Amino acid sequence: MEKIKQLMFRAADEVARTFKQHILDTDAGKDVGLGASGSPTEKIDMVCEETALKVLATEGISVLTEETGYIDRGTEDCFVLDPLDGTINAVNGLPFYAFSLAYGSQSLGGMQLGLVRNLVTGDTFWAEKGGGAFLNGRRIFTRVFNEKKCLILVYIGKHASEEALRIARSGNRTRCFGAAALELCLLAAGYADIYFMKNNVEKRNLRITDIAAGTLVLREAGGVALDDSFSELEMPVDIRARRSVICAGQRDGVEFMKRLLEVKE
Ligand code: IPD
Ligand code: CA
Repeated sequence: MEKIKQLMFRAADEVARTFKQHILDTDAGKDVGLGASGSPTEKIDMVCEETALKVLATEGISVLTEETGYIDRGTEDCFVLDPLDGTINAVNGLPFYAFSLAYGSQSLGGMQLGLVRNLVTGDTFWAEKGGGAFLNGRRIFTRVFNEKKCLILVYIGKHASEEALRIARSGNRTRCFGAAALELCLLAAGYADIYFMKNNVEKRNLRITDIAAGTLVLREAGGVALDDSFSELEMPVDIRARRSVICAGQRDGVEFMKRLLEVKE
């Protein structure tokens, strides 16, 4: 595992370097086609993905990536890569986006290692299944839920569900940041309490590439990651799969959402 860990950090370093070199290019935000998940690929996504794939190829392990899809190298374990989570923020100069990379067997719950690098600050979130979650090498934990002080992260764009809007109106403070991997890490580090993403249009929900690393970081920090029926969040390593995602730093946060949405046991 140590070798894989080193490779993951090297991929993050290389992508951070490439990103910096290219994000101010006039065509960084240009559409260059459709990615494997059916969403548009911008030039900066492509450049970052090529960089990460070059590093990861050295170990001969399969990779699922957001733009290229599944690169089958015949291994049971694989990497799950989103070289740039929060592309829209990045190309609009909004400082909230990240590199996300997980490693494990063929499902979300099978991920063993997760790395999320904030490409603005350089902060690195790391988790190893059963070994805890870390921010820049320091152990992190989710915080105690306090309804009066709770900070809610929620997707409220044009496809947002009624439930998402109801959650958005109920926080002491509510934010919509636009980079799921990093938002899950904010919960993990105890900076926010709830992350809620449920859209009316299924293809606007999250892919495993967006959340593989962040979910492991959150769970290892003591957090909870559920789907929209409030069951443990699970999904295959398949770029076509989408999920609504309901997360909380602690169980009390889940109970708070269930009360708001009048979910019966
Ligand atoms: C996006 C971000 C965002 C979520 C979108 C995703 P991308 O990832 O995770 O938070 O709302 O659905 O597509 O496309 O920037 O990698
Ligand atoms: Ca992406």
